[in-house]
Amino acid sequence: MSDLINTVILAAGKGTRLKIERPKPLCPANGRVLLDYVLDEIKLFNDNSSVNLGINFVVGHKKEEVIEHLKGEDVTFTTQAEQLGTGHALKCFFDQNEKAWDSKYTIVTCADTPLISANVYSKLLEKIKLTNSKAICASFIAHNPFGYGRIEHDKDGFNIVEEKDASEEQKKIQEVNSGLYIFETEHIKETINSLNTNNKNNEFYLTDLFKAEYDVKTIIFEDAKQFTGVNNMEQLEIVERAINEKIILKHKHNGVRFLNSSSCLIEGSVEIEGGVTIYPNVCLFGETKISKGVIIEPGTIIRDSSVASNTVVKAYSYFEKANIGTDAAIGPFARLREGSDIGNSCKIGNFVETKKSKLHVGSKVSHLSYVGDAEIGERTNIGCGFITCNYDGANKHKTSIGKDSFIGSDCQMIAPINIGDEAYIGSGSTINQNVPDGAFAIARQRQVTKENMAKKFIKKK
Ligand code: UD1
Ligand code: MG
Repeated sequence: MSDLINTVILAAGKGTRLKIERPKPLCPANGRVLLDYVLDEIKLFNDNSSVNLGINFVVGHKKEEVIEHLKGEDVTFTTQAEQLGTGHALKCFFDQNEKAWDSKYTIVTCADTPLISANVYSKLLEKIKLTNSKAICASFIAHNPFGYGRIEHDKDGFNIVEEKDASEEQKKIQEVNSGLYIFETEHIKETINSLNTNNKNNEFYLTDLFKAEYDVKTIIFEDAKQFTGVNNMEQLEIVERAINEKIILKHKHNGVRFLNSSSCLIEGSVEIEGGVTIYPNVCLFGETKISKGVIIEPGTIIRDSSVASNTVVKAYSYFEKANIGTDAAIGPFARLREGSDIGNSCKIGNFVETKKSKLHVGSKVSHLSYVGDAEIGERTNIGCGFITCNYDGANKHKTSIGKDSFIGSDCQMIAPINIGDEAYIGSGSTINQNVPDGAFAIARQRQVTKENMAKKFIKKK
């Protein structure tokens, strides 16, 4: 086994500039949180190379939440009780992990730079081995360097100057510090106690481990976007877009057709088979699975749901914790809530809401209906304006309708209630008694028609 290299992920800061309640490492990004992406790439680096990585998080602000989030991961934690700066965070790591001095190299990265890919870590390791330098800093050219530490080169080497400490001249420098570094651990040992707070932020800067007098180097990486640090909402949007684009690209390579992918949001947990067509403004979230041949029309939102092959989801539908079978037609404007189990070849039309309901193969609810706590048998047709009256103010009750039945338009089922197979319910009925197999039921007032009487009611304008 190769020597241990420690990776220290700085995750103790408050993230004040983001103005969110949660600690910054747990800031949501495309259905996950920032530090998940950092951890994924570090693990990938570990898997792809022959290194033996120790993964350590420095936590502080709301640390319990960060630790809870990482439960089950093979990582360790260091506490930075007071956030006195990134340099102080690294010092806390060594103070609390004496053995860490024994490793030859230490990698340091930030929990707020989620787009850095595994190969950047490999390149840093390669370069420090090749050059025998004390430390390597990953840098990039930023069109808008605001907020980043500027890499100021002179004839001897370089210094890193933080935004607040930079002169107007220094602020113009476009080569900036990504916040990812590899150190010879020995260099940290020799220099970390020399850090001080003589700067505008009054903090111990990790960046002061890089100085012109030390044998340290940068690698300038071309792909600047991957180093975007999330300090404010503007940067968070850049990062979320980049993650989204990457996910969508993967689906395109797997044969998913997008008609305007930049308008779609797809979380990394979503599975989509090849041969699916996705129109503009579609959002797919959570544990969602879309099978081959499905067409999803514009404006549809699907969360934690499955849609089986060849089903068409028409525009502006909304599914949450629902399962839909094959060859079904859903929407437009359908709302399938939790526990909706829609069978193969079913039809759910516009302005239909379903909840905790099972629709068996080929049944149809085509227009303007509420189906809650219900079971509807095979091939049964439900007319327009149907309502299951499932709630009595305290409890929910079940409506059960058999197969091959026909429910006329504008019917209400006062649950609990059972309608048999091949039953027929006349339009406009409010049904509160069970209807057996093969029966016809009607529950509405008889019509009265009086010849020539309309003029009595029609007002002249
Ligand atoms: C830092 C770098 C800057 C670099 C930028 C890249 C310093 C002094 N500056 O600035 O040169 O261009 O990252 O994105 O390092 N943290 C702690 N404890 C603390 C303070 C911060 O753990 O006491 C953690 C934060 O949670 C965060 C990371 O360190 O994950 C970086 O802190 P942040 O405040 O975002 O530093 P930047 O201003 O972005
Ligand atoms: Mg930052």
